[in-house]
Amino acid sequence: MHADTTSSRKADHIDLAFLSQVSETDNRFYYEPVLQPHSKDFLNPLNFLDCELGAPIWVSSMTGGTNHAKIINQNLAKACGKYKMGMGLGSCRIILDDHTYLEDFKIRKYIGDTMPLYANLGIAQVEELILSGKIYKIKELIDKTEATGLIVHINPLQEWLQPEGDRISQSPLTTIKELLNKTDLKIIVKEVGQGMGPESIKCLMQLPLAAIDFGAHGGTNFAMLEMLRGNEIRKEVYEPLANIGHTAAEMVDIVNEILNESKNYTCQNFIISGGVKNFLDGYYLTEKINAMAIYGQASALLKPAKESFEMLCEYLELQIRGLAMARNFLTIK
Ligand SMILES: Cc1cc2nc3c(=O)[nH]c(=O)nc-3n(C[C@H](O)[C@H](O)[C@H](O)COP(=O)(O)O)c2cc1C
Repeated sequence: MHADTTSSRKADHIDLAFLSQVSETDNRFYYEPVLQPHSKDFLNPLNFLDCELGAPIWVSSMTGGTNHAKIINQNLAKACGKYKMGMGLGSCRIILDDHTYLEDFKIRKYIGDTMPLYANLGIAQVEELILSGKIYKIKELIDKTEATGLIVHINPLQEWLQPEGDRISQSPLTTIKELLNKTDLKIIVKEVGQGMGPESIKCLMQLPLAAIDFGAHGGTNFAMLEMLRGNEIRKEVYEPLANIGHTAAEMVDIVNEILNESKNYTCQNFIISGGVKNFLDGYYLTEKINAMAIYGQASALLKPAKESFEMLCEYLELQIRGLAMARNFLTIK
């Protein structure tokens, strides 16, 4: 290395040392610096949802049907194609009967033919379509978005908090079972930021789902978002509801407990999402769960995806390199 470069780095060290004091230790990991060399900055491919993925990262369902949605979705899909990752579309309700915004959701050409791309509907719409004998519309939706399957988001708390929200007339479990019985679609079920408790998780694990996506508490919170849209008194009365839910870490423990009791569950594929802020969170949670899992992010990816494709790629590349490093030197406690 050139002597000038070394000298300038040493000068930086002296200048920055006082600013570089840390007082918190992340106690989730053992750091083992002695046992491995540096590896290459890439990850081994993994198999998930019958696809070979290049990274254990999933783009959680977000947008469509607004001004910026098309570009954001294209950026996300192109990045998924480039790094071989899967993606959920935002709610496709808006294109069930009307094609004004269809282009926002037509991103198969960007993600490529082989990557998982899932359409998305809320449980209330799925219930309504089933009860009105229009389940064919779900199949049409899969065809027009060229999706691999369907994500159903189950969000009764969010809907309840919306003054204009939908009300469901049967349990989400009943609706999902009917959907599975009446179609041969690949189905993923998710929450949208509150997570799910043990009985719900256990019931879902008994079904032939492609995966269960946590949508856990601790990140974007739609209960809070709905309150921010409403008036002050409503906010004051219902605000504590935003604190209800289950974090991704708690849900991992719940899944592990369920699997400790019995390995006999039909669905053991998980997308760990909701409040996954960075690759260390993702690494920790996917290592800790005793099942096949990748991690999902929504808001963390939305930020760079809104800026540009290049920024999104940089953000993802940094995560992938971070994961490769973590695999070498970090084990979970
Ligand atoms: C802007 C935005 C829009 C979203 N829209 C949907 C949606 O249409 N369908 C859905 O299932 N989840 C939706 N979500 C929820 C996310 O998929 C995810 O479950 C939730 O944001 C928690 O992840 P995070 O903490 O990484 O943001 C949305 C999230 C954001 C930030």
